[in-house]
Amino acid sequence: MKIAIVLGSVRAGRQSHKVAYYLEKKLRERGVAADLIDLAEDPLPVLDERAGRHPQVQAKVESLSARLHAADALLFVTPEYHGSFSGALKNALDYFWEEFNKKPIGVVAASAGKMGGINASTQLQHVVLSLGAFALPTKLLVPEVQGVFDDALQIKSEGVAKLATRFLDEFLWFAGAIVQAKRAAQAAA
Ligand SMILES: Cc1cc2nc3c(=O)[nH]c(=O)nc-3n(C[C@H](O)[C@H](O)[C@H](O)COP(=O)(O)O)c2cc1C
Repeated sequence: MKIAIVLGSVRAGRQSHKVAYYLEKKLRERGVAADLIDLAEDPLPVLDERAGRHPQVQAKVESLSARLHAADALLFVTPEYHGSFSGALKNALDYFWEEFNKKPIGVVAASAGKMGGINASTQLQHVVLSLGAFALPTKLLVPEVQGVFDDALQIKSEGVAKLATRFLDEFLWFAGAIVQAKRAAQAAA
């Protein structure tokens, strides 16, 4: 199974990327292929046309499309900004649609406050439904994210590490069930 992680935090001084990189590492430790799409490294301009009007944008959209298509399941990692998920993430998602079709998607949110991005995560789960994808009911919330990792990106919070393990267990179970059902349907066709 291949997992794409889409990271929607792009600002200088960001913190949520630590969560995305941690999850990528944890997936790889479980033998799962993980592809981290960091929108700070692959920025997309504000959408004016899905394919992108400029050849450079078009090439980037095609490359991201191929990476999203290759994924059996996805994780969206977002910071909470003003009670919602990041605009950079929504802008990137709006470039694509069929890439998400009937795929299992787990939502992860991080915040500076104590609520761990609860509002961002719930709203993002609704967006997942509009993408024609299946939202994992469980989400991973990381409150006070600025204190969760050390400078070497090692996790310091045992509580968050435990929550992340449980979340990945759920996500991989859910994703595995959907992937298996799709393969069975293909085999029967
Ligand atoms: C524009 C903006 C709005 C924010 N709004 C909230 C908020 O509504 N609730 C909250 O807990 N933190 C809020 N924060 C703090 C972020 O959650 C915090 O920066 C955290 O580290 C995750 O975002 P980051 O990946 O950009 O660092 C906001 C930060 C920015 C830049």
